[in-house]
Amino acid sequence: MSRALRSLVLLSAWLDIASAANIFVSHYQGTVQSLSLNQNGGRYTLTANGTVTLGGQPSWLTFDSANRILYVADETGYGTASIWSVAANINGGLTQTGKATAPLGSVHNVLYGDGYIASAHYQTSMVTTFKLPLTSSAQTLQKFALTMPGKGTIPSRQDAAHPHEVIVDPTGKFILVPDLGADLIRLYSINASTGMLTSCGQYTEVGGTGPRHGSWWNNSTLYIANELANTVHGFTVTYPASGCIALSRFQSITTMTGNKTAPTGTKVAEVRLKDNFLYAANRRDLTFNPNDSITAFSLDSAGDMTFQGITSSGGTYPRTFAINKAGDMIVIGDQTTANVVVVKRDTVTGALGPQIASMRIGTVGTAENDNGLSAVIWDE
Ligand SMILES: *[C@@H]1O[C@H](CO)[C@@H](O)[C@H](O)[C@H]1NC(C)=O
Ligand SMILES: *[C@@H]1O[C@H](CO)[C@@H](O)[C@H](O)[C@H]1NC(C)=O
Ligand SMILES: *[C@@H]1O[C@H](CO)[C@@H](O)[C@H](O)[C@H]1NC(C)=O
Ligand SMILES: *[C@@H]1O[C@H](CO)[C@@H](O)[C@H](O)[C@H]1NC(C)=O
Ligand SMILES: *[C@@H]1O[C@H](CO)[C@@H](O)[C@H](O)[C@H]1NC(C)=O
Ligand SMILES: *[C@@H]1O[C@H](CO)[C@@H](O)[C@H](O)[C@H]1NC(C)=O
Repeated sequence: MSRALRSLVLLSAWLDIASAANIFVSHYQGTVQSLSLNQNGGRYTLTANGTVTLGGQPSWLTFDSANRILYVADETGYGTASIWSVAANINGGLTQTGKATAPLGSVHNVLYGDGYIASAHYQTSMVTTFKLPLTSSAQTLQKFALTMPGKGTIPSRQDAAHPHEVIVDPTGKFILVPDLGADLIRLYSINASTGMLTSCGQYTEVGGTGPRHGSWWNNSTLYIANELANTVHGFTVTYPASGCIALSRFQSITTMTGNKTAPTGTKVAEVRLKDNFLYAANRRDLTFNPNDSITAFSLDSAGDMTFQGITSSGGTYPRTFAINKAGDMIVIGDQTTANVVVVKRDTVTGALGPQIASMRIGTVGTAENDNGLSAVIWDE
């Protein structure tokens, strides 16, 4: 091999190592894209890779990494809504492989049991399940119509039950549903082989809390981000002999510096954990005006949260974010500014920053509307 050729081979091997990370991103205008995060001499760039146009209003991405299939929720609120499966080729290509008709207004989905998917339908107050794969003739396996007596403490937002997430517990035996409208965390037991869910209880929150999204530390500790109170609640989880799962709250903390109440208009969205650190996304808090923020908390050995710091989300309305497995980067999906932002994370101190890349995806959104960028996750 000539010296020049050998250098070229070495260079391309180095370039391969330098472009290790891929990201999936969904946009409310109807697309899912894959992005490559490349590093060259310490400089990071995001580049568009594959794209698939699904239509509707893709609102959430769940990745079955073993089979490289993305499951996409559809928040479409009028007419007909879908639930899609998309094959994510290792070379970055995306292809729709399945589509079923689903109830309107889905904001989240999760895989559970032996080949099932559950969805939370915010607008239509429902939890539904499907058996996989998603064929065109697939019907819902179960539909739970959620109700509440009258309106809640914040009537403008709590006019009806509004399930926001379907969370599988670490044992795989239960699904928990934060209901923003009813101030409940609804509890269901799972039959893994049949996919059937059975309602087995609920945890009642303080009026006006608005539980939205959760994240597990371990099988006895769960954190829930509350969109209306703009707090994070820590729960001790137990598994009573009666056969359900039980929650007991041990802490409530605001996401703002100095334990301050979040500014009016703030809507805490997402909560994620890595080791002994927890992060929450603040939409429209404008801490880094015009940008919003991500709050970091450290956890002590009992799971108590202590405010650690607040970092710019590098855009407006961070609806979702995800921490990579290595724990050295987080990717943020800013909805209204429709940009994907990658921020460094210190694996020892848990501190976030600096921002290393940002890329606009599709059209920007308008404040408080279901448009713009909806979700981001790592391809891993
Ligand atoms: C897309 O991602 C794949 C998988 O990492 C990579 O091999 C390919 O080079 C990427 N393409 C572009 C255009 O970045
Ligand atoms: C799941 O349902 C099947 C069929 O009804 C039943 O035989 C099985 O015992 C159930 N499993 C559990 C764990 O309840
Ligand atoms: C929770 O995790 C612990 C430690 O990994 C394990 O011993 C225990 O059985 C788990 N509890 C349940 C209900 O699975
Ligand atoms: C934070 O505020 C809450 C609610 O006002 C209060 O219960 C709690 O003690 C405060 N914590 C600290 C550390 O000041
Ligand atoms: C798991 O939860 C228990 C109880 O909340 C806590 O004491 C423990 O430190 C946690 N373990 C890990 C590894 O996070
Ligand atoms: C807001 O985020 C954008 C995009 O990441 C960045 O260019 C801008 O400097 C940020 N503005 C502030 C005030 O932090």
